[in-house]
Amino acid sequence: MIPVAEKGKFAITRRKEKTYLYEGGIHWMDDGPGYEFFTELASGTVGVGGLGLGCVAKQLQANDDVSRIVVVEISQDVIDLVWPHLDIPKATIVHDDLDHYLRTTTEKFDYFYIDVWAGENDKSISNWRKLAEQSVPPDRVLCWGEV
Ligand SMILES: C[S@@+](CC[C@H](N)C(=O)[O-])C[C@H]1O[C@@H](n2cnc3c(N)ncnc32)[C@H](O)[C@@H]1O
Repeated sequence: MIPVAEKGKFAITRRKEKTYLYEGGIHWMDDGPGYEFFTELASGTVGVGGLGLGCVAKQLQANDDVSRIVVVEISQDVIDLVWPHLDIPKATIVHDDLDHYLRTTTEKFDYFYIDVWAGENDKSISNWRKLAEQSVPPDRVLCWGEV
């Protein structure tokens, strides 16, 4: 279980069995359900934009059709708070801005899941999708908030 802790502007909190990730006043997420629409259909090499609490990566680990997971996270503080407490042998963590990563990677992915905004977003989903489609087949980029 991810321990309650703080690092930089980030905090992991727990209330009534649920774990939350905050950045200052921003509620990034909790570990409730909502990712199965992606994690159950993905297969092969899968990219994930945003570590958060690692919920997507954990679910992908349990999917036998997924062979490899690459998680891209912009914040070293989030990585330090969360990554050491996950048991996801198929996954690699990359500390990078997803925008920079997608523009520069030579990896080819079978699926990619993008979830790097909390409420307001400075890029539209279609921009993220266009960027990801350089490394992923077009119908295999899924984004939080679009379904
Ligand atoms: C809502 S959480 C992701 C939740 C994640 N899908 C999960 O399974 O727990 C958003 C995460 O994206 C990260 N993030 C925000 N902007 C980013 C960017 N440009 N590149 C990579 N990660 C980013 C945040 O630090 C945060 O950890």
